[in-house]
Amino acid sequence: MYILGISSYAHESSCALIKDGKICALGEEERFNREKHTWKFPENAIRYCLDKEKITISDVEAFTFFWVPMKELRDNLGHFLKYMPASLNLLRSPSGSDDMGFLSRVLAMQNVGKDLQKRFNMKRTPEIHFVEHHLCHASSAFFISKFEEAAILTVDGRGESTSTMLSVGRGTKIEKIQEIAVPHSLGHLYASMTDFLGFKPFFDEWKVMGMSAYGRDTYVKEFEKVLDFDQNGIYRLNLDYFSFHTHGQSQWLSKKFFDTFGPKRTRGGEYTQHYYDIAYALQRAVEKAGVNLANHLYEKTKLPNLCMTGGVVLNCLMNKEIVTRTPFKDYFFQPIANDAGTSLGSALYHYHQVLGKPRNFVFESVYWGPEFTNEEIEKSLKENKVSYFRTDRIAADTARRIADGKIVGWFQGRMECGPRALGNRSITVDPTRVEMKDKLNARVKRREGFRPFAPSVLEEKAHEYFDLPKGQPSPHMILIADVKPEKRSVIPPVTHADNTARVHTVSRKVNPRYWDLISEFEKLSGVPVLLNTSFNENEPIVCTPDQAIKCFLRTEFDVLAIGDFIVEKHR
Ligand SMILES: [Fe+2]
Repeated sequence: MYILGISSYAHESSCALIKDGKICALGEEERFNREKHTWKFPENAIRYCLDKEKITISDVEAFTFFWVPMKELRDNLGHFLKYMPASLNLLRSPSGSDDMGFLSRVLAMQNVGKDLQKRFNMKRTPEIHFVEHHLCHASSAFFISKFEEAAILTVDGRGESTSTMLSVGRGTKIEKIQEIAVPHSLGHLYASMTDFLGFKPFFDEWKVMGMSAYGRDTYVKEFEKVLDFDQNGIYRLNLDYFSFHTHGQSQWLSKKFFDTFGPKRTRGGEYTQHYYDIAYALQRAVEKAGVNLANHLYEKTKLPNLCMTGGVVLNCLMNKEIVTRTPFKDYFFQPIANDAGTSLGSALYHYHQVLGKPRNFVFESVYWGPEFTNEEIEKSLKENKVSYFRTDRIAADTARRIADGKIVGWFQGRMECGPRALGNRSITVDPTRVEMKDKLNARVKRREGFRPFAPSVLEEKAHEYFDLPKGQPSPHMILIADVKPEKRSVIPPVTHADNTARVHTVSRKVNPRYWDLISEFEKLSGVPVLLNTSFNENEPIVCTPDQAIKCFLRTEFDVLAIGDFIVEKHR
């Protein structure tokens, strides 16, 4: 039975195709239409999923959607009336995306079936099963986890009205325990501060997390007034400091916030210690809120396993604190944690919870995107008129170039889903060379200097370099580990200012080709680690060979290892 899940008209539009509860394909529309975090209908992603499985839209038996628009209207009417007339601003503010207001978005969501019908020339409007947003997030983690029973914590900006949900999964059922509703939202707190620090909310939260490593505890006490905690440790925003609950995305913070913490950093403005310290205070507050939520959930369930996902769960510093400071024994952080994962969650919810079908699939890999044959790659190389050679030792030949100090684009197999490049659309360099971070920034990535680069490490050697919390693996780069003191000088470009690293543990079983590359590099350098960053240049991660080759040609990296081919730039 094929089920097609869709998320659209908010951000990270995506489509997931499952067959009898197993993932066949997952497409993020941004990889196809090349608009980062796109809200647009995932038409290209749907076509990819159907083509991958060699089926047509008429073979799909059920369509699911990641949101219940009528619930959003119902749930928010009280809030809207409570804050009249200021709340009229919410109707004027962008909602979900920059290009849509509240009412037009809700209308578009309600009419998603018609949109689908029109774009795919269907005879009649298909029935759409609308699934609550946080149940989608929860389903996207629990139903594909290895756990028969688990506590589930989902945290994001907001769903229809819920921003945080505590629930429990048993077999094919998820049961809610507690929901926290907007305006109380850790995602919106982080977005507010992303705006305050001069970045784009819902885009640049990574930058704030990176900044926090350079901060001191100057504002930690003051920040405690921004985020209150009840007797169970559950957070609430002190709305005196905020405006987004009446003005939406056009005005995140109130006069009181600015009176207390000073003016916003302007985009492109200086990074002063003051702003680093505020990022530090924010990060500590979010960690405390996350740890408290998880501990409360443990008290309610007493289960040993925790599943987590939702946009805020991309905050790997918070995840580290949760693993370290809660009694759970095992964890599953579903890495397609932003809304791209909710198309999958909606389909899984329908299959298991609504239809009661048994679970038969455990999530191990994020490689659910398009792949290309050597023939397709060679055709693209010829079209782009680059000289190349073919090798049957791609891992060894590429590793030698990395060890020689080259910046290498590594394009192999099926594209990763989720925000992290995990060794199939990656740029990799030698992490033992101290100059590589600046070189990479100057020549390709052009990122702010305070943003860390991440290491990929052979899973079996990870403990030699990193102290992973509770020894948990980090196969999807969603956990932070301390770099062992004796290794900090060995891999300086991937050791952040606070001596941590966002580790990617690489399994031979899950990604043999990337594992081989790191292993070959170890033979040359004695270090089983590569610096890994996403294959892109201020754009969505490259998807096709043509995009990879064009990115390689317009930027200043040295080598492209694509399928079984190597392309070199001679300086
Ligand atoms: Fe979400």
